[in-house]
Amino acid sequence: MNLSERAKRIKPSATLTISAKAKAMKARGVPVLNFSAGEPDFDTPEEIKGAASKALEEGFTKYTPAGGISELKEAIIGKYEKELGMTYETSEVMVSNGGKHALHNLFQALLNPGDEVIIPSPYWLSYPDMVKLSDGVPVVLATKKEEGFKLDLDRLRSAITGKTKILIINSPSNPTGAVYTERELEAIGRIVEESEFLVISDDVYEKFVFDGRRFVNLLSVAPHLKGKVIIVNSVSKTYAMPGWRIGYAVGPEALISAATKIQGQATSCPSSIAQKAVTFALSSDQTVVARFCESFQKRRDFMLEGLQGVRGFDPFKPAGAFYLFVYVGSLYGRIEGVSGSVDLCEYLLDEFHIACVPGSVFGEDRYIRFSFATDEASIKEAIDRLKVF
Ligand SMILES: Cc1ncc(COP(=O)(O)O)c(C=O)c1O
Repeated sequence: MNLSERAKRIKPSATLTISAKAKAMKARGVPVLNFSAGEPDFDTPEEIKGAASKALEEGFTKYTPAGGISELKEAIIGKYEKELGMTYETSEVMVSNGGKHALHNLFQALLNPGDEVIIPSPYWLSYPDMVKLSDGVPVVLATKKEEGFKLDLDRLRSAITGKTKILIINSPSNPTGAVYTERELEAIGRIVEESEFLVISDDVYEKFVFDGRRFVNLLSVAPHLKGKVIIVNSVSKTYAMPGWRIGYAVGPEALISAATKIQGQATSCPSSIAQKAVTFALSSDQTVVARFCESFQKRRDFMLEGLQGVRGFDPFKPAGAFYLFVYVGSLYGRIEGVSGSVDLCEYLLDEFHIACVPGSVFGEDRYIRFSFATDEASIKEAIDRLKVF
């Protein structure tokens, strides 16, 4: 088949592939413990499902405006008014088929061939391929564990060129769970202020920050950067709704309008029924989200302690999200056939029936990622299995 250069340029999403392999093994009866998925194990809360049922019963089954229904945009505006003290107009909001789709629309609307996007690493594995899909150039900027997996300002400055169009900040981070503080963001904000590029703040894990921390993004500390910062968010993690495919972006009107035009020609609009459910989710009591967060923190503590006891495993303590990023580099060359993170993950799946994700897909081969959005019994069982390791 004579495929496009674009199609050849990108890789399939590795987390989905590994998760699928683990699920297939499980279906064959292998007692696989799956820590590879990037989604909460909770079901969508019943009241949210109820709002979707109501929309169906009322026949809310037609196309909606390309960028989403106004009542959902108003709910998003209300959220940011309350949480960020920032006022947006509906023309500055776009509802998409997931946060990933919002990101794709933004890249499509912003990038010309050769435009650079600075991506701090370890990164969410989709960023580089999504940038390439839009003809941009990913500029991967390594962060170090000793620095809490946060951007070093000098290295950030030296990565900026005349072609830099976007900087991505993802806090809490997938895969490290690193969370930026106000001070750190203020310092980044000063660099943004002096520069021409825009910032995409990927806040999809905003509700899962631990140990009494308060979530902050660049706009909470530098509201004057409103014209340069686009927030991307999603309900996939927050309300355990990954399959509903609703995410959104808020930012400068001209950009949102261009991204919405692209979305309109690609998918017409997000699901009408899901939009109604999300309108309800955003406008109603948020206790359930706090409960999810509490539960994740408990499991983080439990799994962190367990993995700290496994020889050769050195987990980074995450301040947010629901992943443990574990240094395993000292094991390479010491287990037969294992010289990198892919080998180690295959070894863990084959020998211990434990599925996790190789760090190489996040740009850091010396690590592997475990998701703790998994029930406690599975976490306990995994730690027991790994004790003989
Ligand atoms: C950092 C990050 N951003 C964005 C997304 C996109 O999520 P969704 O498209 O389900 O909203 C994910 C999903 O795993 C993620 O980890």
